[in-house]
Amino acid sequence: MSDKYTLITGATSGIGYELAKLFAKDKNNLIIIGRDKKRLKEVKGEFEKINSIKIHFVEADLKLEASVEKVIKFVDENSLTVENLVNNAGFGSFGHFHEVDSEKDLDMIKVNIYALTRLTKSFLPKIIELGEGGVLNVASTAAFAPGPKMSVYYATKAYVLSLTEALGEELRDTNIKITALCPGPVKTNFQSRAEVVKSEKAKKYMMDAETVAYIGYKGFLKGKLIVIPGLKNKIMIQALRMAPRSAIRKIIRGVNTK
Ligand SMILES: NC(=O)c1ccc[n+]([C@@H]2O[C@H](COP(=O)([O-])OP(=O)(O)OC[C@H]3O[C@@H](n4cnc5c(N)ncnc54)[C@H](OP(=O)(O)O)[C@@H]3O)[C@@H](O)[C@H]2O)c1
Repeated sequence: MSDKYTLITGATSGIGYELAKLFAKDKNNLIIIGRDKKRLKEVKGEFEKINSIKIHFVEADLKLEASVEKVIKFVDENSLTVENLVNNAGFGSFGHFHEVDSEKDLDMIKVNIYALTRLTKSFLPKIIELGEGGVLNVASTAAFAPGPKMSVYYATKAYVLSLTEALGEELRDTNIKITALCPGPVKTNFQSRAEVVKSEKAKKYMMDAETVAYIGYKGFLKGKLIVIPGLKNKIMIQALRMAPRSAIRKIIRGVNTK
């Protein structure tokens, strides 16, 4: 058993939980991050039974700079080697920009952008030194378009995709894996937390977290830079690439309706 670890943010539910399970099944030691200590303990107990892997957890609210530093300090102080970093934690907000609570949007930028960047800055140089492993960032199909009524969320995911693509190109001639996982709507707590209400018709097109994580995990292992789970999502992104921006904005505005 190696002493290398996969660090996963937001491993307590949804896509992050399913990704953590897949890494655990492949005998990767884990460092799982979330805000809910009780849930982190439960996940640790559950995954320890899958394989005799080592699991640490850090209770951290990633909207707080001090908590992000606490994660980095924990890894340093325990002399752990992070081989894979999975930046999954994130959330959204729904509504017109001028109506959404300012604190909520700024907290989203801290989690979706600041924490992801700080953790990558901290761990990627060591992963490069190690010569193996990589960074799996959970973006979204939202990364490919402006998002009226979810404007800040879409913009944060555009940042994640842009950063990931740039890192992928910088590290193209290395063994390091860099992946942006770009799911469309997924059945998780995300929708209720963002206060997005999907129509019954739209709900039918939502993928489950297990499938999305599996596709993302396999794509990461293969060293794919951008992974878009689901044929419908792939077709939609191709269509977006060809459509004029003015049309895209209108379409997304129509889609993002309560
Ligand atoms: N569901 C979708 O439709 C969808 C589509 C595309 C992309 N995504 C992206 O997928 C990622 C995972 O979301 P999900 O759908 O799996 O939603 P989820 O079930 O709500 O899971 C979000 C995870 O992020 C963690 N998290 C949220 N805020 C945090 C904070 N301040 N500090 C630390 N951890 C925090 C949560 O942990 P605690 O609450 O325990 O702290 C939870 O484990 C997100 O980046 C999201 O943007 C989701």
